Amino acid sequence: AGTDHVRIVEVGARDGLQNEKTLLPAEVKIALIDRLSSTGLQTIEATSFVSPKWVPQLADAAEVFRGIRKLPGVSYPVLVPNLQGYQRAREVDAREIAVFSAASEAFNRKNINASIDESIERFIPVIEQARADGVQVRGYVSTVLGCPYQGEVPVSDVVRVARRMYELGCHEVSLGDTIGVGTPAKARAMLRAVAQEVPMAALAVHFHDTYGQALANILACLEEGVRVVDSAVSGTGGCPYAKGATGNVASEDVVYMLHGMGMSTGVNLDLLIATGAWLSGQLHKETASRVTRARTAT
Ligand code: HMG
Ligand code: MG
Repeated sequence: AGTDHVRIVEVGARDGLQNEKTLLPAEVKIALIDRLSSTGLQTIEATSFVSPKWVPQLADAAEVFRGIRKLPGVSYPVLVPNLQGYQRAREVDAREIAVFSAASEAFNRKNINASIDESIERFIPVIEQARADGVQVRGYVSTVLGCPYQGEVPVSDVVRVARRMYELGCHEVSLGDTIGVGTPAKARAMLRAVAQEVPMAALAVHFHDTYGQALANILACLEEGVRVVDSAVSGTGGCPYAKGATGNVASEDVVYMLHGMGMSTGVNLDLLIATGAWLSGQLHKETASRVTRARTAT
């Protein structure tokens, strides 16, 4: 993979579905992930081993993870909030997990009644166990460009959380604009600051498209050197803490932009579009992907 290769981390089956009101049966989720596997994606986040009381949509995590066809060379990380989730993930032989924290003091306090530092303390035992088991760990830092409670999030807090995750052994740290409020110059400045402490090759960007800024933000971060981009097929997802928040940036739109710029992803765009159109049918809602809308217009 040269510098013109971008790895897409497809998060639709996890971030995309976690807030969906329409409960999908496990076999539909399995079909979704199998279809995504056939598009050439290298990384497909499969589900979350979080509390089913908090995220009922993903209560079937074990059944889904067991049911998917794991293609060689494709990784299928799962989100894990604590040791209990880690054990559930290992029972089905997950090989890569993701832990998460927020860069915003107010967000951490309101959501888990903990400071940033306490939130990090909570996932340290998970990372330690994973490293002992040879399980790869990805780290998510959320609210990197704004918080529904405190508004501005100091870049120094983003840098601190990202650096800590990397030091603790996360092979990759994904920087998330959870509520989709960021704009390109801010995104670029944030990434540049983090990249002074964490190697750019270990960073990913994760944009939600609430304010329609996601592709512009991704482009700014690509210019800064990032080569891993999180996105969700059909642009599914949304944040329960932000009124009117829309989903993750659509994978189809990211792949279309990258290929149009002469960059490679290894993803077959036509198969991805077909998968997104199929998923929006399953969810009984119009796709948020502009590319899929354009290509499937009648
Ligand atoms: P809690 O209720 O405070 O936990 O939740 P608890 O330890 O007091 O346990 C309460 C009950 O939950 C117990 O069951 C536990 O066994 C059970 P009970 O005794 O009442 O029957 N429980 C679990 N069950 C299954 N799996 C588990 C688990 N843990 C506890 N792992 C907890 C604390 C962290 C578990 C909960 O708040 C939780 O699961 N939160 C996750 C919510 C979530 O998934 N949020 C979204 C993910 S982050 C994100 O989307 C942002 C990102 O996309 C990046 C971006 O966009 O910026 C990554
Ligand atoms: Mg997200």
